[in-house]
Amino acid sequence: MHLWWSTADSEPFLLQEIHRAFPTRDILRPAPGFIGLDSIPSDSGPMAFAAQTLPGARIIAAPSIRAWADQLTDAIVADLPEDAPWHLHLAPCYGQGSAGLNRCGFIRESLLDGLKRRRRHRLRSLHPSTDSLQPGAGLVQALLSAPDAGFLSVLPPDTVDAWRSSLVPCPAGDIPVASDKSAPSRAFSKLVEAEIRLGRRIGPEQTVIDLGASPGSWTYVAVNRGARVMSVDRSPLRDDLMGHPRVTFHQGDAFQFAPAAPVDWLICDVIAAPDRSIGLVLDWVRRGWARQFVVTIKFKGSAEYEKLDGLKRELAPLCREFRLSRLCANRNEACVMGIIR
Ligand SMILES: C[S@@+](CC[C@H](N)C(=O)[O-])C[C@H]1O[C@@H](n2cnc3c(N)ncnc32)[C@H](O)[C@@H]1O
Repeated sequence: MHLWWSTADSEPFLLQEIHRAFPTRDILRPAPGFIGLDSIPSDSGPMAFAAQTLPGARIIAAPSIRAWADQLTDAIVADLPEDAPWHLHLAPCYGQGSAGLNRCGFIRESLLDGLKRRRRHRLRSLHPSTDSLQPGAGLVQALLSAPDAGFLSVLPPDTVDAWRSSLVPCPAGDIPVASDKSAPSRAFSKLVEAEIRLGRRIGPEQTVIDLGASPGSWTYVAVNRGARVMSVDRSPLRDDLMGHPRVTFHQGDAFQFAPAAPVDWLICDVIAAPDRSIGLVLDWVRRGWARQFVVTIKFKGSAEYEKLDGLKRELAPLCREFRLSRLCANRNEACVMGIIR
């Protein structure tokens, strides 16, 4: 079964998104927040309202912590290659509070304890990161829909690669919202989240155009990574960024701006109608003005969410990979990020 998991505020929109993408297919609703199809042949691209994707998911019934750990061990041994690194995403998708988190903690302990005693090499190849999917690593996802039930998806490394545009590198797709009191605003966390989703960070000496840059949190992230930034807005940035040696400020309209030469990154957080932001990202991608991009799309209401379907269709042939997602750092926005062919 192919499953998507979404949070309660996204679930109705995810259901509509799946209906539009697969109009003739029967949709499965095996547990609250979990929506699926019996299978899909290959990665059909990201679902903007899915928090996480579980390809090849199976239903698990496990009455005890030990039963969870045993079933996970069996699946790891059967489905992952002996020597490959792997990631473990184990998360509760039910209830409020800490009970589910505690249960997952105990399941994890029991699993690791069992591996230590009987499958030590599997334990050694467990990759510690829960905010990146390393190239060449497999992925084991166990999402609990209740204390004694849930879904398990085990992807060997080549399958992780095949599904990469739909997979979020954090358990249950829950990306912790970053904070930095020195940043000009909380918008800071959106760009950090986009980098995690894409699995790429802005790097030293890279060139960046930041459209709709004021007061400057995205520019702040980019210069802190060592990049050179051209920041475009009608309003100036915070004073220290206006005077920063690697920032050039251009006062003007983001939609009229064209770079003198292609850049490494387009980052854009302009407040505009969705059609305008969608048009902007497609224009930059078609013209090859940036090798990578992160662009937010802001909505006034859910009636506009359908517009993301067209964006996905248009971007697919133009990009080596792209992601499209509602952000954990701002539930009212979608963010599209990608790497151009
Ligand atoms: C959400 S704020 C950007 C926050 C910024 N990313 C940061 O991290 O500080 C949106 C910005 O878009 C700018 N903006 C809106 N329309 C614009 C346009 N047509 N051209 C340039 N900037 C525009 C606004 O002035 C505002 O500063």
